[in-house]
Amino acid sequence: MCGIIGYTGHRPAVPVVIEGLRRLEYRGYDSAGVGFVQGRELHILRAAGKLRQLENKLASCGTFLATSAIGHTRWATHGAPTEANAHPHKAFRGGVCLVHNGIFENYAEHKQILQGKGCVFSSETDTEVLVNLVADERVPGVSLLEAFALALRKAQGAYAVALMDQDEPDVLYAARHSAPLLLGIGRGENYVASDIPAFLPYTRDVVFLEDGEIVRITPASWQIFSLADLMPVSKSAQRIDWDMQSAQKDGFRHFMLKEIFEQPRAIAECMAGRTDASRTAVRIPEMDALPVPSRLRIIACGTSFHAGLWILPLLEEWAGIPTNVEIASEFRYRKPLLAPGETTLVISQSGETADTLAALRIARERHSPVIGLCNVVGSSIARETDAVIFTQAGPEISVASTKALCSQMLVLLLMALYWGQRQNSLPKGLAPEALRALDGLPAQLETALPVLRTEARALAWQHASARSMFFLGRGQSYPLALEGALKVKELSYIHAEGYAAGEMKHGPIALIEPDFPSFFLAPHDALFAKSRSNLEEVQARRGPVVVLTNSPKPGLHLDARQAWIIPDAWGPLKGFFFLPALQLFSYEAATYLGKDVDQPRNLAKSVTVE
Ligand code: F6R
Repeated sequence: MCGIIGYTGHRPAVPVVIEGLRRLEYRGYDSAGVGFVQGRELHILRAAGKLRQLENKLASCGTFLATSAIGHTRWATHGAPTEANAHPHKAFRGGVCLVHNGIFENYAEHKQILQGKGCVFSSETDTEVLVNLVADERVPGVSLLEAFALALRKAQGAYAVALMDQDEPDVLYAARHSAPLLLGIGRGENYVASDIPAFLPYTRDVVFLEDGEIVRITPASWQIFSLADLMPVSKSAQRIDWDMQSAQKDGFRHFMLKEIFEQPRAIAECMAGRTDASRTAVRIPEMDALPVPSRLRIIACGTSFHAGLWILPLLEEWAGIPTNVEIASEFRYRKPLLAPGETTLVISQSGETADTLAALRIARERHSPVIGLCNVVGSSIARETDAVIFTQAGPEISVASTKALCSQMLVLLLMALYWGQRQNSLPKGLAPEALRALDGLPAQLETALPVLRTEARALAWQHASARSMFFLGRGQSYPLALEGALKVKELSYIHAEGYAAGEMKHGPIALIEPDFPSFFLAPHDALFAKSRSNLEEVQARRGPVVVLTNSPKPGLHLDARQAWIIPDAWGPLKGFFFLPALQLFSYEAATYLGKDVDQPRNLAKSVTVE
């Protein structure tokens, strides 16, 4: 949510910053801006809307002499997404400007004080208050670094900030607290950014900043200090192995489609190194040092929450671990009781989701061992857990999460097997059978995806004009139904509800009418007969129904008005085919309706505000 990039070096800085912002677009934004010093004067250009609007403005001014700049894509929190509220913000006095990701919670009180000192504000933002606080602290004898630190110590809330001053045009300052920020280290040039893709074409050497750290970069140097006392902090750069190719579209029209089609590879990469040589047992060395949980509490948001719901029955059935699954934003504002020995598992693709991070910290305060399941190496959640398992799905750029969920489901399945092995609670032969089936999964899915896409497109075109839809399922199909509905909502802006099929008769069935379609998930699993009865209840109310099911077999047949036959697989692996079917349906519906698939309105990839 919001993207920051700062550059200081030998290249024309504004194009580097604009290009970096473009690679951060996936984070979601509604305005953008850039600040740079040229001819000893600070220039700020901002525009509401997409980067193209900002570039149109930049086209009429020569920026090529500036070799350092800061840029920002803003996702509105305080004040509408207008040009005046876009970042950078400049201090009323002096030549300092600042970009900010996060929320400065006590800004109103400081705004009043600053207004009392004659400061005039031109935006509604908390950020403009912060930059004026810096200017206010900068009295003779106080360096900009000191003034920046003094201002940040007064700011409550979450932030990642970058700052520049027209009197020191080659120097950038930046700091973080509960929002992502990292350094890219180049030769004769350095970067600060919210995420690695921003500077990936130029350097892979990265320094991950921690909360409470403040940095000063010049083209030739970088120094990190502790915000508390400005003492130097010693750190070294890490080389990361992402390549630009995996962060680009590879010929697909949208990142989302590319990422759906990457799921076979994500599964294969996620499996790598996680079984023994004979393929009979699961290995997760990251978890060996932790005891098998006596109880497990899974905490996550959105799609990652659905991954938690999906694994719940298998953790109980295979590993004998009583489990519950909670939404992070609910958990963090209760006074949760964690039983002794209860382990917490937080699931997050980005590893930066503010609510999940807060929930993690609460669980740790209550002495619960915390395991993280993340996709982003070096993310805050990855760094703060007792053990972290990476999904290894590669960068996910599209705002709507697809391959991350597939890889989360896979790792969670392996975790259920792994704990089942340690508990000796797995039915005999189950692990080798599961692993054999998993071995064949990437190739099967690779073959299935193009067919599923064609079928999804036909169904999407038929149903995309509906105003509302149901997605219904039972057991492990219930979280997939929730996910199908979430994807349709976020991408097509069609109202869609995911429901447990068995609950329909307790109220929602009243909604069924001839223009309200229901997508019914009925795989050939232990609940098939129950799902069939629920389907009949809905069909009897004359609602249009599309049943996603496996190819009919003796005894496993249902009477569907419209059936979508999904390839079958061993046991819970069926979900790995139902999931992309739903993802492709939502993708095709959204493109048919002309929506911005990779950057749906009002959404951000990494939700770093609560
Ligand atoms: C939906 C989606 C979101 C995220 C949620 C949690 O497509 O992407 O619902 O799943 O914001 O994000 P992470 O997993 O990064 O914590």
